[in-house]
Amino acid sequence: MDTRVSHGVPTFAPAPFELAAWSKLQLARVERALQNWVTAEAPAGLGHGAPAALVAAMRYAVLDGGKRLRPMLVLAGCEAVEGNATAALRAACATELIHAYSLVHDDMPCMDNDVLRRGKPTVHVKYGEAQALLAGDALQALAFELLTPDEAAIPAALQARLCRLLAQAAGSAGMAGGQAIDLASVGLRLTERQLTEMHRLKTGALLQGSVVMGAVCGAPAPEQLTCLQAYGDALGLAFQVVDDILDVTADSATLGKTAGKDAADDKPTFVSLLGLARSHEFAQELLQRALAALEQAGLAQPAALGALAQMVVNRNA
Ligand code: IPE
Ligand code: IPE
Ligand code: MG
Ligand code: MG
Ligand code: MG
Repeated sequence: MDTRVSHGVPTFAPAPFELAAWSKLQLARVERALQNWVTAEAPAGLGHGAPAALVAAMRYAVLDGGKRLRPMLVLAGCEAVEGNATAALRAACATELIHAYSLVHDDMPCMDNDVLRRGKPTVHVKYGEAQALLAGDALQALAFELLTPDEAAIPAALQARLCRLLAQAAGSAGMAGGQAIDLASVGLRLTERQLTEMHRLKTGALLQGSVVMGAVCGAPAPEQLTCLQAYGDALGLAFQVVDDILDVTADSATLGKTAGKDAADDKPTFVSLLGLARSHEFAQELLQRALAALEQAGLAQPAALGALAQMVVNRNA
């Protein structure tokens, strides 16, 4: 609390929100949980563990890297509505596992054929294509296992709702569908509407889904959930617009992945369609749209969501 004196009467203004301090705490929780959950240990009752080589590829894909934006959005969404923190931590890790799987497959020769990810050789370069494919498959399955623990702390109806939201965000009308459009669009000049739709699906759906998954760990009013969906939609699209910009403006060392890849592969992007200056403006417009939706939601603790939206648009990697 910041105490000020106005006309001789002390008033209290909320302290400014510190995203760095908040993220440090939340990241530590997520890293610890991922370290524990992505292991070769047999799930209780199954009696058989996983092949060590496959688990090594899974751990390589998930641990030690990445901004962890999706988990941060889940945790911030839950905090905004003062929801069930145990459920939110599992949901946070589940979104990261889906994301990590999508990156492993995105980098494979049949998709973007990339050799660098999170500053390391990609999974198929290190472990071979078959193992990369299977590591992605297994990470996806593990995400849903995490959402369905044998634990009374997470009511069955919430477990089912989280599974459904994640499946929708990752599936054919979400990330996987967007990836299919992306691959079918190489060399094409899409309209702004088509490009927006592709980005909404391939990237936006999982980011929006993360916000909503966090929020349903509490009990938001229907209008609040609608506002959070609008926030997630704008933030999700903004994220991919900025990803397109950074592919042109940043270097590989900063990004931890090969820069300039979109133009080299003749992918339609916001930069190829609108140019750099207009793409920057568009990202800022989307940020304002996200922040307006957040304000309209009238949530108990919106500060982390607001700061994350700013970070998404103003990041340099
Ligand atoms: C990269 O996502 C892939 C896209 C969806 C554009 P991130 O930029 O969030 O990747 P990490 O998790 O930080 O590595
Ligand atoms: C990938 O988009 C989105 C995913 C679902 C993984 P990109 O192909 O643009 O992601 P980067 O640039 O390789 O990280
Ligand atoms: Mg791709
Ligand atoms: Mg790619
Ligand atoms: Mg990209």
